[in-house]
Amino acid sequence: MLTCYDYHTAKIMDSCGADIILVGDSLGMAVYGQPTTQGVTMADMLRHTKAVSLAVKNALVTADLPYKAYSAPKEAVANAKKLVKAGAGAVKLEGGAEVIPQVKALVRAHIPVMGHVGLMPQSVAEGGGFKVQGRDAQSARKIIDDALALQQAGVFAVVLECIPVKLAKKITEKLRVPTIGIGAGKYCGGQVLVCHDMLGLNTGFTPKFVKKFADVGKVMENAFKTYAKQVKGGRFPDKKHSFNIDYDKNSQNR
Ligand code: KIV
Repeated sequence: MLTCYDYHTAKIMDSCGADIILVGDSLGMAVYGQPTTQGVTMADMLRHTKAVSLAVKNALVTADLPYKAYSAPKEAVANAKKLVKAGAGAVKLEGGAEVIPQVKALVRAHIPVMGHVGLMPQSVAEGGGFKVQGRDAQSARKIIDDALALQQAGVFAVVLECIPVKLAKKITEKLRVPTIGIGAGKYCGGQVLVCHDMLGLNTGFTPKFVKKFADVGKVMENAFKTYAKQVKGGRFPDKKHSFNIDYDKNSQNR
């Protein structure tokens, strides 16, 4: 699973065999330069879900229900239906015991739901920042119980974000549904990364768990510099990239 927010990236990702393409609310940070995901709205999610869904032929497009869009079961279903209408095949929401009524309502409405526990970016202000979760026995137990409750309520997978490897392994062994890890080690059923992070497109803070699989930022930098140099030096546009019509030979174009 990888996150994606636009048509062309989704087309490439889908052709490379991604199983799940997540239109994550991380788009607030990755695309809009916001400090957290809390500023992301349903309008943002619908716009980007539509763009991604237009491109995807094979992967399961999953869209995040953004902050405050699922405070109650009825609201969760109404907003999830809008995301499905925009092209999502499933939705994801953050939380454990406190969102079980919402998960049950979504499952009753036949909308596939993915859970998300551990570090939950939508509540990062309340949870003390972007830090590893489940470091002590009590908080680890709560994450296990939340994951089990989500499974019992009917989620088809659970994202485990930023938790110790041992804890993620234990949860993965306890659950029937797959776990999808981000900063949760190698024993999860699947893995997810934010597209901009793994491509090296993120100019800000990069968490420890991110591996840069490419340096697309550097490729862009080189392209922008070369473009500026060639335009200023009169080398672009050249003949190959211009419309060259001989008006003496082609009088129709006069
Ligand atoms: O919004 C997002 O990108 C996510 C992933 C980090 C799982 O929720």
